[in-house]
Amino acid sequence: MFRRKTAIHWVAAMAAILSIVPASAGEENLDALQSEARRAAMRLLEQIRGEVNRELDQTGPIRAITVCKYSAPEISSAISRQTGMRVTRVSLRPRNRMLGEPDSWEQKGLLDFEKRLAKGEKIETLEASQVVSEPTGRYYRYLKAIPMAQPCLACHGPVAGIPEGVKAQLAADYPHDRAVNFQQGQVRGAVSVKKPLD
Ligand code: HEC
Repeated sequence: MFRRKTAIHWVAAMAAILSIVPASAGEENLDALQSEARRAAMRLLEQIRGEVNRELDQTGPIRAITVCKYSAPEISSAISRQTGMRVTRVSLRPRNRMLGEPDSWEQKGLLDFEKRLAKGEKIETLEASQVVSEPTGRYYRYLKAIPMAQPCLACHGPVAGIPEGVKAQLAADYPHDRAVNFQQGQVRGAVSVKKPLD
């Protein structure tokens, strides 16, 4: 009698464990992936912001264009190399189409951020993530909104407010520039993180 009861408890316990483990392990995994992606995204934003602000303070916006042009892609590749994830900045209206053009998953996410912002969500907390299957395999994808802030106006704000020298430099470097006329508080773009899953 005692043995039978113990056996039933054991079976019940095993069933409980088996039914819980796969679900919670999956969740833990996604949580870990999200914090890893979030950390990489923050690192990119902080490093670029640090470089741009230093240049704006020390030498002004024209020199800061060079920082954006050369340092941002460099910081982005360094973080990608170190983390094994592709960490980039994308936008629905990119300045540099080669690096900033979003793929279809990123386009959907960016459009969704704009809707969520219009509905009253805080821009600082806008993020999206998903495990997706693509022809080359499974990926964890993560997107975090980049807010248009005050220091960005000199190069991405309404054209009338952009200093003449900056305007001339941008016209020379980026004849297909679409990244102007943003208002403070809008979604300027997003950091996109893409991690291959085994
Ligand atoms: C001094 C001018 C300057 C300032 C200030 C500046 N940017 Fe940029 N930004 C650029 C340039 C130039 C590029 C294109 C870089 C490249 O060639 O990849 C760029 C590219 C970007 C991109 C990548 C997508 C795209 O459009 O190509 C994002 C996102 C971005 N900037 C956001 C910001 C934000 C947010 C701020 C304020 C915190 C800011 N920028 C301030 C000049 C500037």
